[in-house]
Amino acid sequence: MSSNPIATPLGTTLSTPSPTELQDQDPLAAEAEKASMPHSHSTQALKHIYLVVATTPCKNGRLGIGMNGKLPWPMIRADMDYFKKVTRDGSGTGTYDGSVGKVSNSVIMGRKTYESIPPRFRPLAGRNNVIVTRSKPMDVARSILDDLEKQAGDARGKRAELERKQAESPTATVTQQLKMAEAEFEVVSNDETNTVAVRSKIEGVVPGVTIGSNLRSAAEHCLSQSGEVYCIGGAEIYNAFLKDETLRPKLRILQTEIRKLKDDEEFECDTFWPEDLEDAQNGWSEVQTGQLQKWTRVEPPQGASVDWKDDEKVGVRLRVRGWEPKS
Ligand SMILES: NC(=O)c1ccc[n+]([C@@H]2O[C@H](COP(=O)([O-])OP(=O)(O)OC[C@H]3O[C@@H](n4cnc5c(N)ncnc54)[C@H](OP(=O)(O)O)[C@@H]3O)[C@@H](O)[C@H]2O)c1
Repeated sequence: MSSNPIATPLGTTLSTPSPTELQDQDPLAAEAEKASMPHSHSTQALKHIYLVVATTPCKNGRLGIGMNGKLPWPMIRADMDYFKKVTRDGSGTGTYDGSVGKVSNSVIMGRKTYESIPPRFRPLAGRNNVIVTRSKPMDVARSILDDLEKQAGDARGKRAELERKQAESPTATVTQQLKMAEAEFEVVSNDETNTVAVRSKIEGVVPGVTIGSNLRSAAEHCLSQSGEVYCIGGAEIYNAFLKDETLRPKLRILQTEIRKLKDDEEFECDTFWPEDLEDAQNGWSEVQTGQLQKWTRVEPPQGASVDWKDDEKVGVRLRVRGWEPKS
């Protein structure tokens, strides 16, 4: 294990204040300080953190987001495509082939949400994956290393089949699995940022994962990078962002609303979105149609429009909405 600086969102050598300094600072003083800093810091002051969430109304009056550690609904292709397009390609930074390019977006998530992603889709391709945990980052890193090495072993075992599929009809998943077959992983700790990265030894081939235990620090580091910053849940992490008075003014919310087509039925949920966006007292305003596309710079895919669209196959209707803090 080395302690060299590493090329990951939390691993780069930065001159931003230390996590403790950030937490101790008065938010306004911190903003003013950032505004007077060199390029990356003033960019950071202008950047936003997008909370990307899919919600469903529940009888308890709350918006459900999860059930038993997974999503409450079956796979909804339009929502998955929208999530991928926004977080991977939003602002035109996507690398499209699943690797991490020079400019990639960052996705910040809780440890449980990372574990809820089906193994063949994690780490999320073409994005810098950033996980927060209250446990020791090294412990989480070791378990992720085991997971990635298993995935690489499985991919090597079926390399011939993957190569045949790639020749016949290539898909992003097959491309990613072939890259996985080539990958060897290493764990690198960065004492300066108190983070641990699990990354491919060949840089950029498979997206790396960076694990840290300070949410504010993770967000600030991601903001200082070139790509966009997305918080992709779950409930604990959304809540922590919403409650952080320094980060809150930077937040924008990208919400996909999902309802069952049968009005009297609902999805059972045990995990909920923390705040009522419709309640004026909470200080959110919905953005106008068209503003969403300006934010994300991607078209809402068919079925995930700003108007309700029915997906008869899954038995749901969905629409996308955007929210920003009231000025
Ligand atoms: N509908 C959606 O859009 C959506 C999106 C994402 C997730 N989900 C669903 O939401 C559920 C998971 O949400 P969740 O709230 O249970 O878990 P989560 O927010 O994904 O992860 C919680 C974990 O994150 C770490 N953590 C939380 N707050 C932290 C902080 N302030 N600093 C450092 N680490 C922190 C802790 O990890 P340790 O335990 O390791 O200490 C904690 O156990 C799943 O059902 C998932 O499918 C839904």
